[in-house]
Amino acid sequence: MAMGDLFSGMLQGEEQIAPGAVLLRGFARDIAPALLACVAEISRVAPFRHLVTPGGYTMSVAMTNCGRVGWVSDERGYRYAPHDPQTGLLWPQMPVLFSDLARRAAEAAGFNGFAPDAALINRYVPGSRLSLHQDKDEDDARAPIVSVSLGLPAVFLFGGLNRSDKTRKYRVEHGDVAVWGGPSRLAFHGIAPLADGDDPFTGNCRINLTFRAAL
Ligand code: SIN
Ligand code: FE2
Repeated sequence: MAMGDLFSGMLQGEEQIAPGAVLLRGFARDIAPALLACVAEISRVAPFRHLVTPGGYTMSVAMTNCGRVGWVSDERGYRYAPHDPQTGLLWPQMPVLFSDLARRAAEAAGFNGFAPDAALINRYVPGSRLSLHQDKDEDDARAPIVSVSLGLPAVFLFGGLNRSDKTRKYRVEHGDVAVWGGPSRLAFHGIAPLADGDDPFTGNCRINLTFRAAL
């Protein structure tokens, strides 16, 4: 097969991981420092915290949000809420830099008109992990999920629609963006325990932004 056929319809650095799911290598690399500056500002108002799952487990990933609503978890369950339960304040507004990046990445993956109302911000330190799960607390499953990796590299696990489906591993690095929607919208995914490291931008952590159309 000629290279032209192999890459037809795909941008360079774009890797299909499943139907409706792509990895856009380096898509956010240029604006990564500005994204991280926004994260620092957001976390001054809405600090990173370790949420407790309905089952009583304290997550190893620290989280905060920006946008019209934020994802929260406690003993009552998972949901999107307009206020930060820790401060009682509205979540910080989503920077235009964020929503614009999310829209462009979704479009590059074939999903036009993505308008996220929530950005969950995850912070991983070495050893932090996110076990296999589906993103299914959003009302509109027609919209994709856009996930931006910053700082230390991680191993992204991507499976199928059943928890028991085989997962594949993808190394995600600073500036990489993953988008999943359509037939992969409810695919199980997770992050393997973060390896130790020292990143020029974030030091010893990984920051992940996931954009959702929640309501
Ligand atoms: C998530 O599934 O919400 C986050 C995935 C990631 O950290 O890359
Ligand atoms: Fe997720």
